[in-house]
Amino acid sequence: MTVIQDQRLLPDDEFRGGWQAIKIPDEVRERLTAQVALSIRIRSAFSFEIMPIHGLIVLAGPPGTGKTTLAGGLADRVAGALDTKAQFIAIDPHALTGAALGKSQREVSKLFDQTIPELAAQDLCFVLLDEVETLAVDRQQLSLDANPVDVHRATDAVLAGLDALTRRNSNVILIATTNYPDAVDPAFMSRADHVEVIGLPDLAARREIITDVLTTLSREWPPIRELLADVEHFASRSEGLDGRRLRKTIVSAMAASIDIAQDPAKLGREHILRAISRQTEDTTGAKPKAVA
Ligand SMILES: Nc1ncnc2c1ncn2[C@@H]1O[C@H](COP(=O)(O)OP(=O)(O)OP(=O)(O)O)[C@@H](O)[C@H]1O
Ligand SMILES: [Mg+2]
Repeated sequence: MTVIQDQRLLPDDEFRGGWQAIKIPDEVRERLTAQVALSIRIRSAFSFEIMPIHGLIVLAGPPGTGKTTLAGGLADRVAGALDTKAQFIAIDPHALTGAALGKSQREVSKLFDQTIPELAAQDLCFVLLDEVETLAVDRQQLSLDANPVDVHRATDAVLAGLDALTRRNSNVILIATTNYPDAVDPAFMSRADHVEVIGLPDLAARREIITDVLTTLSREWPPIRELLADVEHFASRSEGLDGRRLRKTIVSAMAASIDIAQDPAKLGREHILRAISRQTEDTTGAKPKAVA
């Protein structure tokens, strides 16, 4: 398994599209962009000893709320705002957590001491640590009986690696995502310059998501456009669904019958409402353990 999952130069059209596709309040977008720009600015002006800025931003929140998509979009947005050459690298944490004793620790050290610095030799470089709870496991929650010491050491290696990388490469900005901020080692979280909790989409966001999906579908099947009149209704009924689930739900409403599946232009308001209520009933009482 390869550790580098994605590597690209910024600006990137796909990332720009992703940044726009995720419906979150404008203030969150602005805060994230400003935070990263500030981290870059401070680190270029002061030494780490004077301003301990790690260049680490954490996006935490339930599954399907757009964290991974926002990470790429944020990198693209900041590179655009600063009008500078930049690179984006995504790390697959699962590729680092091997079974062999001592392997994780060695792989993690290599990642921070060698792989990232080599790839990020110059220019601004964004590094995505997706699902970081697999990498920086909370050591306090590990029972040494049940869990290999290896996991403990891997977290130690992440922290040491992060500190060394931060001091040596002030051009690197790390963006970490997690569904389980409570399972991430507090020492990792405390190194973050900023933690942004990305919540479930609110009414306004759900309205935008549904409008987006219906508008896209109506390009292929124009009668679907009429359903836009009911967006408010769909949005108010879909509270509790994450962005990914909501998009899927609207699309899967077309599976109401074989007839509609074959001719989606026949999709009606009642099919969407039924699909939504099936999903919201499903999620009641089955809330993910992640941040609500
Ligand atoms: N707020 C939102 N607005 C619009 N679309 C959204 C939103 N949140 C999620 N989505 C949709 O869900 C898809 C998945 O998002 P993404 O993979 O970035 O979520 P995630 O938070 O990283 O999920 P996970 O925690 O499961 O990895 C996006 O491509 C998008 O289509
Ligand atoms: Mg993700």
